[in-house]
Amino acid sequence: MPVDAVTTAPALTVQGVSKRFGELQAVRDVSFEVAAGELLAVIGPNGAGKTTLLSILAGILPADGGSVAQPEGTTERIGWVPQQTAIYGKLTVAQNLRLFAKLEGVADPDATVARMLDQTGLAERAGDELGKLSGGNRQRVNIAVGLLADPPVLLLDEPSGALDPRQRERLWGFITALTERGTAVIFCTHDIAEAERHGQRILVLADGELLFNGTAAELKAASQAGERDLEQAFVSFLRDRGH
Ligand SMILES: Nc1ncnc2c1ncn2[C@@H]1O[C@H](COP(=O)(O)OP(=O)(O)O)[C@@H](O)[C@H]1O
Ligand SMILES: [Mg+2]
Repeated sequence: MPVDAVTTAPALTVQGVSKRFGELQAVRDVSFEVAAGELLAVIGPNGAGKTTLLSILAGILPADGGSVAQPEGTTERIGWVPQQTAIYGKLTVAQNLRLFAKLEGVADPDATVARMLDQTGLAERAGDELGKLSGGNRQRVNIAVGLLADPPVLLLDEPSGALDPRQRERLWGFITALTERGTAVIFCTHDIAEAERHGQRILVLADGELLFNGTAAELKAASQAGERDLEQAFVSFLRDRGH
């Protein structure tokens, strides 16, 4: 196989994924790919189906149809950082990481915990109770849990929602460093500015339907009003399509 074909093989291929909750079609026939090292933003109004889609990709919610595939021969793992996380406030950072490493069944929990403390810059906080950390450091622990099994793809649900601007900046520095190491990252947000700033590519989801897949510049060009501000372009893009 030519080298190019290897390096450009998608880290994740999503085809025709659908999910229904009773009468409600939460995700409709969604297909897209993400490349290794790519930072992909999924934006959409509340209730658009972002969390449902990411939960399906993470393998924790069964889809009604469609497929989610990683290339053969790679670690078939997808890391997941949900909005409501399961870390324990009364345990220390290291204790939380060790607990989840064991739950994940990683081969060497102690070495994995040490690696995650180092990678997340939390080594100095290893003995601190989770409940006493700042929101930014807590979110780092959440992400460390998602990365325990060293997955080639990491999914983040509204990762910066509870953070102040400085914590947010540091979080994005950390996430960007992950992509530079080759991890594909998909995050969802309703913060359009954040999607524009950090997403190399943007997917627009509304009423479960994937309406757009491209760059922020292309999304601006796709709104009939020719908006220069992405948030306005996004709103008019949705309005043009009846959402
Ligand atoms: N477990 C569930 N049972 C029934 N309806 C659900 C469930 N989870 C999500 N929904 C509905 O599916 C739609 C999409 O939800 P969600 O994926 O959470 O949207 P988003 O994350 O974009 O805000 C919403 O209308 C929501 O109420
Ligand atoms: Mg959500």
